[in-house]
Parts: sequence; structure tokens; C-alpha cells
Amino acid sequence: MDGVIVIAVDGPVASGKGTLARHLAARTGLRHLDSGMIYRAVATLVLEDGADAGNAQACVRAAERLATADLERPGLRDQEIGSMASRIAAHREVRAALVEFQRCFGTTPPGAVIDGRDIGTVVFPDADVKFFVTAEARVRAERRHRELVARGETIDFSNVLEEIRERDRRDSERAWAPLRQADDAVAIDTTALDAAAAAQMALDIVCQRLGALSVLS
Ligand code: C5P
Repeated sequence: MDGVIVIAVDGPVASGKGTLARHLAARTGLRHLDSGMIYRAVATLVLEDGADAGNAQACVRAAERLATADLERPGLRDQEIGSMASRIAAHREVRAALVEFQRCFGTTPPGAVIDGRDIGTVVFPDADVKFFVTAEARVRAERRHRELVARGETIDFSNVLEEIRERDRRDSERAWAPLRQADDAVAIDTTALDAAAAAQMALDIVCQRLGALSVLS
């Protein structure tokens, strides 16, 4: 891509892709976008309209009026908002309405590290570097459960695991832009890797590929 650098970081829920993407952004000076927050923000707009995730037209209307400030709304990380976001994300028209928002963010100099489900496959198929971050479902559920408890939510581990499996299934089996590893993505399995080790591994790969670029400090 001309003059900008885009790094795509895809993977399932709680795989560690967000932490890794934030770390890469901090170390490269690129901007960071957590694209899941876009779908979560649309979910809150749909709720505000009193509509349901199954109502494709209402979801598209909400997606079309999404503003950057909506990504700062309170409660976006709540479990039920994530679940609703995943149902909303299955509508092809919603995804189409949100692609431009993400491309605009990514192509604003100096570029961006964007994490999500379809960044390397659909939103930025020509991204400079692509990662696919995975971990076993049980380990991801443990991480998510710890995170929710730390935020004061009361929830059983078994519910979190079930929710993660359900979201994995919905995200991977949907017809439009399903979660999958791009052919040219580097896979990082964080099951037995802590966040710092995964981030260092990714940074080493970015430096190998883009090392000469001045954006890397
Ligand atoms: O990443 P996060 O869990 O916050 O994303 C919430 C939901 O938004 C995901 O389960 C997924 O269905 C959807 N999503 C997506 N494409 C992206 C990012 C998120 O479909 N690029």
C-alpha cells in the first residue's frame, strides 16, 4: 500500500490478538483499531433503536450512522454486547457498510495495526504483514472469565466457555467474511505463550518484513 503500513491481526475471541495488536502499534508508531469495537458499537446503536440483531435493515441503518465517538461508548466490552455483535456481524450488508470505515482508518498515514476476524482476508487483503492468533477454547475461556470477574461481572466459567464456543461457531460458519486464516498470514498459537512472548514473536516478524522502514523505532 502506498505510503502507509497496515498490519492485520485476526483470530477468535480472547486469543490475545488485541493485546498483541496494541503492543505492535505502540512499538511501530502505527495507529491501532480494534475492529470488534465497531461491531459492538453498532450493537449498542441497534439496542438504542429498540431493534433486534436479527433485523438486518435496522442493523444496516445503525452501521451507516456509526461515528468514531461511538467506539468510546460505555459497556461495549460487556458479554451480551459481544454476543449481539457477533449476530449483527453475520449480515452481509452490515459488513459492507463497515468496510469503508475500517479502510479509511487503516489508510490514514502512517497506517495502522487492525485486529479482528476478516482484516487480512477481506478488509485489507494486501496488508503488509498478517497474523492469525489462536489458542485452545478452554484457555481463551479462562482468560475471558478472569477479565469479566475483574470487571465485576458475576458469571460461571461454564457459561463463558459455552459462549466462546458458540461465537467461534457463528464467526467461522457465517457465509460472509467468516473467520479464517489468510493464506499468507503467520499463525501464532498463544495457548502456552504469555502476552509478552507472543508480542515479541510478532514484533520480530514485523521487523524482518518491514525492518528498513522508518516507522519502526
Ligand atoms: O473481537 P470482539 O470479540 O470484540 O468482536 C465482537 C464480534 O464482532 C465478534 O464475535 C465477531 O462476530 C464480530 N467481528 C467481526 N469482524 C471483525 C471484528 C469483530 O465479525 N473484524
